[in-house]
Amino acid sequence: LDNLVAQAKDILRTNDLGGYTVPTKGLYPFQWNWDAGVTALGWLYVDELRAWTEFEKLFEGQWENGMVPHIVFHQESDDYFPGPDQWKVEGNPPTTSISQPPLLATMVRIIYEQSKDKELAQAKLDALMPKLIRYHEWWYRERDPETTGLVSSYHPWESGMDNSPAWDDVLHRVPQVNRPYQRRDLNHVDSKQRPLKEQYDRYIYLVDFFRENDFDYQKIYQNCPFHTQDISLNAVLQRGTIDLIHLNTLASVAADMTSLEASVAKAEEVFPSLWDAERHLFLNRDQALEKAIPVSTSGGFMPLYSYSATPEQAALMAAEIKEWLVLGPSGLASTSPLESTFDAKRYWRGPSWLHINWMIVDGLKHYGHEDVAEQLRQASRAIIEQSGYFEYFDPITGEGCGGKDFSWTAAIALHWLL
Ligand code: DGY
Repeated sequence: LDNLVAQAKDILRTNDLGGYTVPTKGLYPFQWNWDAGVTALGWLYVDELRAWTEFEKLFEGQWENGMVPHIVFHQESDDYFPGPDQWKVEGNPPTTSISQPPLLATMVRIIYEQSKDKELAQAKLDALMPKLIRYHEWWYRERDPETTGLVSSYHPWESGMDNSPAWDDVLHRVPQVNRPYQRRDLNHVDSKQRPLKEQYDRYIYLVDFFRENDFDYQKIYQNCPFHTQDISLNAVLQRGTIDLIHLNTLASVAADMTSLEASVAKAEEVFPSLWDAERHLFLNRDQALEKAIPVSTSGGFMPLYSYSATPEQAALMAAEIKEWLVLGPSGLASTSPLESTFDAKRYWRGPSWLHINWMIVDGLKHYGHEDVAEQLRQASRAIIEQSGYFEYFDPITGEGCGGKDFSWTAAIALHWLL
C-alpha cells in the first residue's frame, strides 16, 4: 500500500511541468480541462498550494466569453496532433475551441472543504469564484441558447468519451476531412486501444468547421454536423453548478446566482425525459434527429452523481451496475458489455476509467446504495493493485491500457482508494 501511495505521488510530480500537470508524458503533453480538475484533487494529498495552482494555470486559457477550453497549450510539443496550429485560436496561451465536462467547481468544493490551510483556501476560492461563475454562465448562455434545460456538445472530444459507440451514428454524418494529416497518438499507444482513422478524419473535419465558422456560437448551434446533448456532460454540469451555488455561500463576496439557480431547476425538470425504462439508465440525445441515442454507456449512470434520478431510477441503476460488474468485474465498463459495439480495450468502447467509477460511486452513496458503491470501489482498487496507474483498464481482465503513469488515475487513487 505504501508503495502504491508513493508511486501515485511520484506520477504527479513527474507529470508536473511547472504549475500544470500533463495527463501523461508523450501522449498528452499539455493541460486538459477535466484532467486538471481530477488531478488537482490528487495534489491535495501532496501539496495543497500546488492543487490550487492547477486550477489557476487552466484558467489562464479561459476565453473572454467565459469558456474554459478542453486543452490549454502552455508550451509547444511535437508529440501531439492536432496542436495549436490546427485549432488556430488566437490567444496566449493558445487553446482549443471546445470545452470538456465541467467538473472544476465540484473539485474546487472538495479541495476547499478538505484542505488544512483554510486561509489559503479562502483566498484561492475568492479569486476563482468569478472565473467559475463565468464558465458556468457560458455553458447555459452559448450551449443552450433556447433554454431547453440541456446544453449541446459539438465534438466527441468535448464529451471526454471520444470514441464511445454512443457517438457512432452522429459522427458518421460528419464528412471526412479532405486533407492529409499525421496522427501522433499511435506513436505512443497500440492502435487497437485508440480510435480508428475513419473517426479521426471526422474529428479533424470538426476542428476545421469551428474555425471556418469563426467560433461563432450561433452559427455552430445552427449548422454543426455533430450536435448532441451528452447525458454525462450535462450531469457533470448540473452537479458542478449545484456545488458552485454552495461555494457562493462560502465566498467572502457573494455573487448573484439567480440565473444559475434557474438553470439547475430547469435541468432538473428535463432529466427525466432522458430516462430509458428498458435499459435502466439515461440516454444521450441526437439533436439532428431529435431523439435518444439507443446505446448503453457508463455515462448513462451519471445522473446519480448529479442527484437527477428518482429513488426508483437510482435503485434500478444500482441493480444494472451490479449486472455489468458480473460481465466485467474490473471496474465499470464504459460501454455495456452486452452492446455489439463493446470492445474491451478500445478507449471508450469498453474499458473502465477510475474517475468515472469514483463519480458513480459518489452518486450511488448519495442514493443509499452503499453495497454496490463498495463493490465498485473494491473493484477499482483491485485494478490498480493488479496493473498500476494506466489511463484505462480492460473491464474483463483488469489489464492496463492506453497511457502509462497517468495523472488522473493516480489522483483518484490518492483521494479515494488508498
Ligand atoms: C485525444 O487526443 O485523444 C484527446 O482525448 C482529445 O481530447
